[in-house]
Amino acid sequence: MSFPVVVLISGSGSNLQALIDQSLAGQLNLEICAVISNKANAFGLQRAKQAGIPTHVLDHTHYSSRELFDTALQECIDAYQPKLVVLAGFMRILTEKFTRHYQGRMFNIHPSLLPKYKGLNTHARAILAKEKFHGVSVHFVSAELDAGAVIIQAKVEILSDDTPETLAQKVHKLEHIIYPQAVKWFSEGRLAIDNSGAWLDNTLLPETGFQYSSS
Ligand code: GRF
Repeated sequence: MSFPVVVLISGSGSNLQALIDQSLAGQLNLEICAVISNKANAFGLQRAKQAGIPTHVLDHTHYSSRELFDTALQECIDAYQPKLVVLAGFMRILTEKFTRHYQGRMFNIHPSLLPKYKGLNTHARAILAKEKFHGVSVHFVSAELDAGAVIIQAKVEILSDDTPETLAQKVHKLEHIIYPQAVKWFSEGRLAIDNSGAWLDNTLLPETGFQYSSS
């Protein structure tokens, strides 16, 4: 039986595409039940339609409070009874109530080597700070922004001629590898979370998660 997930997006949806592609290729046994966007013009909605996945737009500007938006979002998600909610470039700060509801069953991908560089403009900030490495992390979502237990991370070296744009491109390629990997582990029942952190195959992962290596 395939594993039901709902994917939330706000933009291009290239991470969504990676999940669709790996599912079609039989590398992932997912049923992407629905894709929900808070932006009507998110390109990811077209990717979903192309793949025959139901889509919903919940425009946050139509709600008078964050709480009301999150309640509507939760209703929309729960109608599909997903076992995992995948935030894939969903650019919203979530209420504590919402994150608690999906505790242990909601992932996010963040373009930095967490716990470094939470928040926005991570590529530019890493270059400015003269970091040697940058990268991306997939983590369980907790109430605090970009602070949940890290599952997997992938690193890239920052070269002297890198710009935020070139670095973002390199990081994006890694995103499309490690996000499907984390979702696959979860769908196979190999991942868990408790107060001490994220567990893979009954082994507690370090604070920075499993380190992906291409070799
Ligand atoms: C990615 O950079 C991801 O790390 C961040 O939002 C971006 C989403 O890209 N959370 P896409 O919409 O999946 O192409």
